[in-house]
Amino acid sequence: MQMSHRISGFQCSPIRRLSPYAVAATKRGIKVHYLNIGQPDIKTPDEALNAVRNYSKPNIPYGPSEGLYELREGVVDYYKQHSVDLDVDDVLITTGGSEALQFAFMTLCDPFDEIIIPEPYYTNVTSFARTAMVNLVPITSRIEDSFSLPPIEEFEKRITRKTGAILLCSPNNPTGYIYTNDEMKSILELCKKKDIFLIVDEVYREFCYEEEFSSVLSYEGYEDRVVCIDSFSKRYSMCGSRIGAVVTKNSEFKANILKLSQARLCPPDIEQVAALAALKTAPSYLEEVKQEYKKRRDFLSQGLKKIDGVICSTPKGAFYMVAQLPVDDAEKFAIFMLNEFNYENETVMIAPAEDFYVTPAIGKKQARIAYVLNTNDLARALICLEKGLEAYKEKYL
Ligand SMILES: Cc1ncc(COP(=O)(O)O)c(C=O)c1O
Repeated sequence: MQMSHRISGFQCSPIRRLSPYAVAATKRGIKVHYLNIGQPDIKTPDEALNAVRNYSKPNIPYGPSEGLYELREGVVDYYKQHSVDLDVDDVLITTGGSEALQFAFMTLCDPFDEIIIPEPYYTNVTSFARTAMVNLVPITSRIEDSFSLPPIEEFEKRITRKTGAILLCSPNNPTGYIYTNDEMKSILELCKKKDIFLIVDEVYREFCYEEEFSSVLSYEGYEDRVVCIDSFSKRYSMCGSRIGAVVTKNSEFKANILKLSQARLCPPDIEQVAALAALKTAPSYLEEVKQEYKKRRDFLSQGLKKIDGVICSTPKGAFYMVAQLPVDDAEKFAIFMLNEFNYENETVMIAPAEDFYVTPAIGKKQARIAYVLNTNDLARALICLEKGLEAYKEKYL
């Protein structure tokens, strides 16, 4: 029987693809430290959990396709704290940032249109693009430059009649890079000159370790061509609640994306109630979470830099970094770590970075490492990684 080529050609998520090896290692009694996935171990705010416990509607209804009005108002208030003035109708609640990205692609692009994106990038974007039948046009950002924005001329060269948008992610998954004000202004100017949209995925906005973050929505003069992707998942450690948002001031975009939203009826109701409660969490919650991740970042990057042959820079935000490893093939090494290696009955799982690139081979020796473990576990994970690299070198290099 027939399957669509569109879906059968999908890659399995490189973040999850190696899971069967990890399951098998666990069955053999080995403790696996998961550095592959951005699943925070931080507690969800009590306010959000209590809102779920106390959900009191007599049935769970379909809500408005745009999302609950009170939640959209809450999001407007949240943005005020980030110096962004919004109206409630600038905010559309989605089923996670994932749906926000997918809907944005489908709203802006016809099949075979293009989205320009710096690589490496959040790997699920490949699947969102394929679902929308949109081609991703990559521009390589380099580990040697800490993954800063590639030269603006590289973007300009690639803009054609098929270009629907440029997509940036800042703070970046997987690199941890945060685009500077100058970089943002230059890309916004280019979008204005070429009359195209800029989508910026800011789901890690609260995790900036060196300076205050400026949302793309705060740049004056570009409001009509900016689409911001947001999510409650990481901010409040409520990934499973699946609440995100698309924020824009462009009226035509708003009218069109609403048609898609109406087709899927509404975002989940109980989770929106929980998200609204999360917004009422004391600001100290986010500050403490940020300090915790900062501590982990410092610990991990200092530890990695001490391992012979590992190249990485200290990420400025989010909770990931891309490290170049002294191996021939990071995927082969990742499988070795789960299949053949353990140190005192422990090992680590990393995400090979090759699939975070469109261009083949660039990321072959690189891995994305998430620092979502506490520092005790990170310390053990670093020891395993160092010992594993030595063992791999002896056996395979
Ligand atoms: C950069 C980025 N954007 C969007 C998402 C999607 O998040 P969610 O659908 O959980 O809101 C993720 C999840 O890891 C991400 O890293």
